[in-house]
Amino acid sequence: SIKTLPVKTGSVRAGEIFSSRLGVLTATLGSAVGLGNIWRFPYLTGSNGGAAFLIIYLICTVLVGIQVMVGEQMLGRAGKGNAIAALRALAPGKAWWLVGAAGVISAFLIMGFYSEVAGWVFAYIFKSLSGSILSTDPQVTTQAFTSLIANPTQSLVWQWIVLAVTGGILLFGVTKGIERTTKTLMPVLFLLLILVGIRSLTLPGAAQGLTYLFKPDFSVITADTFLEALGLSFFKLSVGMGCMMTYGSYFRSDQNIPTTATRVALADLMVSLMAGIAIFPAVFAFGFKPESGPSLLFITIPAVFASMPLGNVFMVAFFVLTAIASIGAMLSLLEVIVTFFNQQLGLNRKLSVVLTAAALAVFGSAAALSNSTLANVKILGLTFFDLYDYMSSNVLMPLGGLLISVFIGWIWGYPNIRKALSNEGMLKNERVIGMFFGLIKFVTPALIVIVLLNKLNIL
Ligand code: PHE
Repeated sequence: SIKTLPVKTGSVRAGEIFSSRLGVLTATLGSAVGLGNIWRFPYLTGSNGGAAFLIIYLICTVLVGIQVMVGEQMLGRAGKGNAIAALRALAPGKAWWLVGAAGVISAFLIMGFYSEVAGWVFAYIFKSLSGSILSTDPQVTTQAFTSLIANPTQSLVWQWIVLAVTGGILLFGVTKGIERTTKTLMPVLFLLLILVGIRSLTLPGAAQGLTYLFKPDFSVITADTFLEALGLSFFKLSVGMGCMMTYGSYFRSDQNIPTTATRVALADLMVSLMAGIAIFPAVFAFGFKPESGPSLLFITIPAVFASMPLGNVFMVAFFVLTAIASIGAMLSLLEVIVTFFNQQLGLNRKLSVVLTAAALAVFGSAAALSNSTLANVKILGLTFFDLYDYMSSNVLMPLGGLLISVFIGWIWGYPNIRKALSNEGMLKNERVIGMFFGLIKFVTPALIVIVLLNKLNIL
């Protein structure tokens, strides 16, 4: 006689999950690697004392960033859903889900300005193709950039193109959209970055640039430096805003979370360093100021390529790799909002994607117009662009990370952590788990609190 096996509903997931361990890695790495490495890491390092900043950033990454990443992925997988759903499932009847809700707000803030910078990158692919921005004269490259960002129509259109491309990929879903895209594109990104790095290292001023990047200058370190470094480590690893919880909910039950997070952080650091190595030697070779701020990428890089044979080919490669990096990150940022519409409000996934892109087009336009129409509109002394940026990296993400680590260390507790990180006893990683527990319970939250209080001049 034929017996029907009982269906174990508890182990059946509602939605899609990543189909392979490699897919988990590329999707997570795709989220981490982005404009943070290529646009933000170099200018923050450059303006905050080079290697001195790097050391502080590394400490923040090891003691805070990686730990919050492990913690979020663990909670997402255990709670089987986006940050709000997961925290609701793991702490029923408590207010912890608000941390997930704050994450959705962070996703809006980050995408608001991120999609704009990505828009400039997309625009620069085409500008490099035409050769119109290829010049060693800082005035020419500055002028090209300024005229792009000061043009409201161009700013908006490029931002919307970016949103359409990212949303278009997400329409294919988690496995066919996010996983397949990052699996294909991440290797291309690495190849192109190595290519451009080698070219920059063989420029005349290379040694000076490397000295600048690696020689510590502690005299410029202030309370702000610590907050910038902490903010960067949150931003870089996409933590403190629910993104890694959402991705964690797509993780397979046999995925080794601490190993995955450590690999992602290492690879991400490598990309940042390679980007620094590609950019700083060039900055010196052509006599630019290394601390010239967020526009470093758009004003300096064209000059680098202008002076070499096949310069426009290298420049196209550079902006293509930057665009790839930004897409992987934006997929994860949008996904936070998509799952909110989809899992919390019950809309179907496709509609959720379309709504997300449309909402971001509206919300982001305030940032897109920050250098033109809305240049004089300031809140707390900041334009929309800077406000979105500051509020997310330096306020909401550190606070989110603080609450998540407190939740894990003090509320969820060791037995749950142990069960989740050992994959229910399948992994023999007792020591790793013990270390994680010690850090997330005491060190991670303490460090975040110290940096925040220090910034507020309370310490
Ligand atoms: N980590 C991405 C970068 O470095 C940015 C990001 C932040 C992505 C938060 C997702 C969530 O560019």
